Amino acid sequence: MALPPQFLEELRNRLTLSDVVMRRVRLQRAGREFRAPCPFHNEKTPSFYVNDQKGFFHCFGCGAHGDVIGFVMRNDNLSFMEAVEALAPEAGLTVPKASPQERERFEREKSLYDLVERATRWFEGQLRAPVGRHGLAYLRGRGLDDEAMARFRLGYAPSDGAGLRAELVTAGYTEADMVEAGLFKRPDDGRAPFPFFRNRVLFPVTDRRGRVVAFGGRILEGEGPKYINSAENPLFHKGDILYGMSRARQAAADGKPVIVTEGYMDVIASVMAGFEGAVAPLGTALTETQIQALWKLAPEGQRMPILCFDGDNAGRRAAFRAVERVLPLLMPDHSVRVAFMPEKEDPDSLIRAGGAAAFQAVLDRARPLTDVLWDMEAAERDLAQPDAQAGMQAALEAQLERIPDARVRNAYHRAFKDRLYQLGRPARPAFQPGAGAGFTRGQRPGAPPFPVARQWDKRFRARVEIGSARWRERLLLAVVLNHPVLFETLGETLAMISFATEGLERLRQALVECLSHDSGLDAAGLRRHLSACGFADELDETLGADLPSYARPEATPESARAGWQEVWLNSQELVFQTELREAERRLAEDPSEETLARLMALKREELIRRGHALDPEGEGV
Ligand code: UTP
Ligand code: MN
Repeated sequence: MALPPQFLEELRNRLTLSDVVMRRVRLQRAGREFRAPCPFHNEKTPSFYVNDQKGFFHCFGCGAHGDVIGFVMRNDNLSFMEAVEALAPEAGLTVPKASPQERERFEREKSLYDLVERATRWFEGQLRAPVGRHGLAYLRGRGLDDEAMARFRLGYAPSDGAGLRAELVTAGYTEADMVEAGLFKRPDDGRAPFPFFRNRVLFPVTDRRGRVVAFGGRILEGEGPKYINSAENPLFHKGDILYGMSRARQAAADGKPVIVTEGYMDVIASVMAGFEGAVAPLGTALTETQIQALWKLAPEGQRMPILCFDGDNAGRRAAFRAVERVLPLLMPDHSVRVAFMPEKEDPDSLIRAGGAAAFQAVLDRARPLTDVLWDMEAAERDLAQPDAQAGMQAALEAQLERIPDARVRNAYHRAFKDRLYQLGRPARPAFQPGAGAGFTRGQRPGAPPFPVARQWDKRFRARVEIGSARWRERLLLAVVLNHPVLFETLGETLAMISFATEGLERLRQALVECLSHDSGLDAAGLRRHLSACGFADELDETLGADLPSYARPEATPESARAGWQEVWLNSQELVFQTELREAERRLAEDPSEETLARLMALKREELIRRGHALDPEGEGV
């Protein structure tokens, strides 16, 4: 039920954000703001700021951001209305009651849900009745068993609407109700309404909470559109709903990936094969609302649905359109991955032909958004040519302009800068002793644990960093490839990071995916699996002869682990230094409270990192 906007404004005006936060979090004054360790993520240094002038809180660590209502929703785990109700007494206000019109609309919707639910049950019955035998045979022919049909509540709409009408009239509904719910249509010429679905198998569409709000109807054979969907009605807005979303939400809470397919049959086949996070839009490209809804299906930190597209040109174009729609919506920790199906297959046909494993293999190769953007722009260019490289850079920059979130945009910028730079270099940069690898602890006792940034001559800094990113990424993979048992301790870190080097990033994902499913694999088995998944070249490169001793197969697990951590520590430092330089640059460009606060937070973090890093026992991972 909507609240009048004046009420919300009054509520916000009367409350002082820091007062409300103070009752829940210990705040310290910091100039005109307040700060505290962020209540929304784990941290020791405070990067959570409260600004009463603006009425906003912001965490520079996790990006949490919002106003007083948002804070209470998150902190107290309340819905919007619950938060408003909790805050109103603090502001000396009472929440206005719903108007009679609103109550009426509410009642109306309640009864429409009931009408549609009754119709669903009736259609289910028809599928089992003699009149539905063709429909039943059709669905069986497509490989659906009774369990699948029951689970998805599939039904059959006969050509004659008299039975449905009688059923609904008995339940007390009028023709006008049936028309409003989209089950009957009133012809323009004033004749009696006729049933909208005739001679079709029906796929009930449920909302986020699992209530049926509409149907998709598939023709069995003959002339006419293959699928038709209920018209928009008060319960159903096509662009807001995804087929399968209520079950996918449960699946995502259980840690399964959210997978976006194209159609009803794809969702059913996927779910029956164990991919319970499968959803589909209803015959249109993904809308902005649907993308937001996809993210909300999964818990925070796992908001990376996989979008599946056909492997043909049309599918590729559809993928590009989806990517362009996603860019303006990106936020930290919210993205998508893109998987391409083999040509002429959809998830339904692929699972029927190759089982769950075939679909899993496609999903395993899902690529991050940065890769897809890169490919979009690389497709028409000969990247060996410097002018094409410049064109590539310009095109990518133009794409990144569409990302309004500065944190995400900067991160993409960094990722592409690295790759663009690699274009102009030989494929495998030579090992730079002392630069990236930095395994100085054993070789030079007493050397500072973070030699890299300090030793660099400023002029060469960027180059060494980029040249060695690939090397470090290789080492991080090689150690685990040669010693899969280490995945047990290093896996969580390896799963969390992302590499700048395209091929190595994909190998990292596949490696993580593989070892999280089958932790018992030995090095040879792991290599076989990854080769079979198409990573033979990346494996050859990664396991090349120039590996340092701790990364080789014959190293002891202890030295392998120690070496890995050393590389990780150095990588961390480099990422951090990049962020620091970026913050300095932004402050110079735009000296504001925000950019200053960001730099100060990083500087503080630096002090702590140094302190921590100089502790000889510090593990750093
Ligand atoms: P597809 O044409 O890709 O078909 O439609 P499909 O899902 O593989 O269908 P089957 O396997 O032949 O049964 C994908 C989705 O597009 C919508 C439906 O939601 C369908 O599931 N669609 C398709 C329509 O809305 N109308 C149509 O005429 C066709
Ligand atoms: Mn199909």
